[in-house]
Amino acid sequence: MPQLSVQLNRLKLANPILVASGTFGYAREMAAFVDFKQLGGIIPKTLTAAPRIGNPPPRTVEASSGLLNSIGLDNDGIDAFLAKTLDYLLGLETAIIVNIAGRNTEEFVQMAAKVGQHKQVAGLELNISCPNVSGGVDFGTDPRLAAEVVSQVRNACDLPVIAKLTPNVTSVVEIAQAAAEAGADAVSLVNTFQGMAIDWRRRKPILGNVIGGLSGPAIKPLALRIVWQVAQAVNVPIIGIGGIQSIDDVMEFLIAGATAVQIGTANFYNPGLAQQLVTELSEILTEQNCQSVGDIVGTLQIPA
Ligand code: DOR
Repeated sequence: MPQLSVQLNRLKLANPILVASGTFGYAREMAAFVDFKQLGGIIPKTLTAAPRIGNPPPRTVEASSGLLNSIGLDNDGIDAFLAKTLDYLLGLETAIIVNIAGRNTEEFVQMAAKVGQHKQVAGLELNISCPNVSGGVDFGTDPRLAAEVVSQVRNACDLPVIAKLTPNVTSVVEIAQAAAEAGADAVSLVNTFQGMAIDWRRRKPILGNVIGGLSGPAIKPLALRIVWQVAQAVNVPIIGIGGIQSIDDVMEFLIAGATAVQIGTANFYNPGLAQQLVTELSEILTEQNCQSVGDIVGTLQIPA
């Protein structure tokens, strides 16, 4: 049996298959479909300092080969989560990575300090890349702000820190470099691409918020390219996200340079997929004569 565990600086995972924030709720609703302890980890929906009701409907629309969403960080707020949901998640025998979004550095720091009191939490993912709220991508589009929030969160708590980055910038490499230098244990690449859908007969945008974030198979080649570029340029472990639907997709991200992956949009269509991919990863690594996931990470060969 190949070794499936992976180490991303201070973050250790039993295997590299995670479920992405916002696509798995707070896990309860998935219990009928998934044996949670088989997963590499669960990243619950982004939490904010105060509860939010999110954006006006419609908030999702299917595009060709993808899904547009403009949820707008609808969530119960960090305090309700810590009081009512975290214990349930920590009982699931898988790594729980809490995802937070602050409107400013202070909010990130305050939330990180609260989560940091719960030592069984595996890590913190900083959502500095939400395309659907005002100011949501401010931290993820300015290398100085990205570095500031990462370093202050690191000072505020001892948990491993992952920065989730937006592709809606000229250079993801520049932001990833800043996050890495500030002490991020890993970067998640990528959040959704800004897009829109139009009902031309009504001359109206379909989404209530006009613009949304595109995810799913439509973005896989874009996400792969970004993972590969960052892997070439920055010394930081990468968690690849973007349209993964099969074990072949997982292998492509690993070979491009990701140490772990997140399954996102596909969870809405097949909640059991992530668990199935863990089994298939073990089989394919055996077939490829690999002793561990590390044997495959970053092995893309570019012809001379
Ligand atoms: O596409 C996204 N939608 N990315 C996020 O980070 C948050 C989410 C939302 O709540 O709008």
